[in-house]
Amino acid sequence: MKIILGPSSKELAEKIAELTGFEKVPVVSRVFPDGESYVRLESSVKDEHVAIVHTTSKPQDSSLMQLCFMANAAKRNGAKKVTAVVPYLAYARQDKIFLDGENVSIETIAAMLKAAGIDQLITVNIHAENALSRFPLPAKTLTAIPTLAEYFTKKGLTKAFALAPDKGAMYIAQQAQQILGGEAGNLEKQRDRHTGQTTQTAAHLSVKDKVVIIFDDIISTGGTIVGAAKILHEQGAAKIYAACVHGLLIGDAEKRILDAGVEEIVATDSVPSKNSKVTLAPLLSEALKAL
Ligand code: R5P
Repeated sequence: MKIILGPSSKELAEKIAELTGFEKVPVVSRVFPDGESYVRLESSVKDEHVAIVHTTSKPQDSSLMQLCFMANAAKRNGAKKVTAVVPYLAYARQDKIFLDGENVSIETIAAMLKAAGIDQLITVNIHAENALSRFPLPAKTLTAIPTLAEYFTKKGLTKAFALAPDKGAMYIAQQAQQILGGEAGNLEKQRDRHTGQTTQTAAHLSVKDKVVIIFDDIISTGGTIVGAAKILHEQGAAKIYAACVHGLLIGDAEKRILDAGVEEIVATDSVPSKNSKVTLAPLLSEALKAL
């Protein structure tokens, strides 16, 4: 296997190449003045199974185009199989029809990836696993939650309370709980499908004087974490941390979260930023070695 160093995940791809010992395929990428993307593979992929490591966070549309172009370039240059390793998979949240007249965005993206030449896909903590059923190619999601939870045990926060900001993320809190060895619980979140506004509510949680880590798949605007932190403060939590797999952290999200009294934001390198304190490289390397 060879690792194609996708421009949006170059550092992560380099780490994966180092851990697996697979040869690297550098990529030249450029954006033309009109906004169009250009990519070129810099070494041979002939007769190889290649893994393109390339996340599709902001700017997601051009990242997706780059991914398709790299897959097409690989196939045109003789690659026998293309595996896309896409740590953050854009558009996965629109995985069903919520309101009449909508589309299923992830279905369109999946069809596009297949048409470009991708044979299989590996992602990490896709928002909802049922999105994978929209793929016309083998697709699987891995979980980075144990790795995130280990970051906190290494900090000495064993037994911290693992909190999910909504019911859908409870499985995430439970995965963290298995590593942390403390309690787990969840808040309730309702979303108005027309305005996108969310409201959060909580039954009484046993968080008084405890360290609480809020675990979520994505932090985008930070609204969910800010709302959860407010409830946790009201219920007497001693310290609050926020952890997510995909730290999109749009606009002033980071500031808003820290201003809400959260001690630290911890994310993976699925979306590279200064909050990417946990690398997905070992998890993804193992998955690639097992193919
Ligand atoms: C949605 O249900 C996701 O799991 C996250 O909770 C959501 O994307 C976070 O968004 P924001 O940071 O904008 O509240």
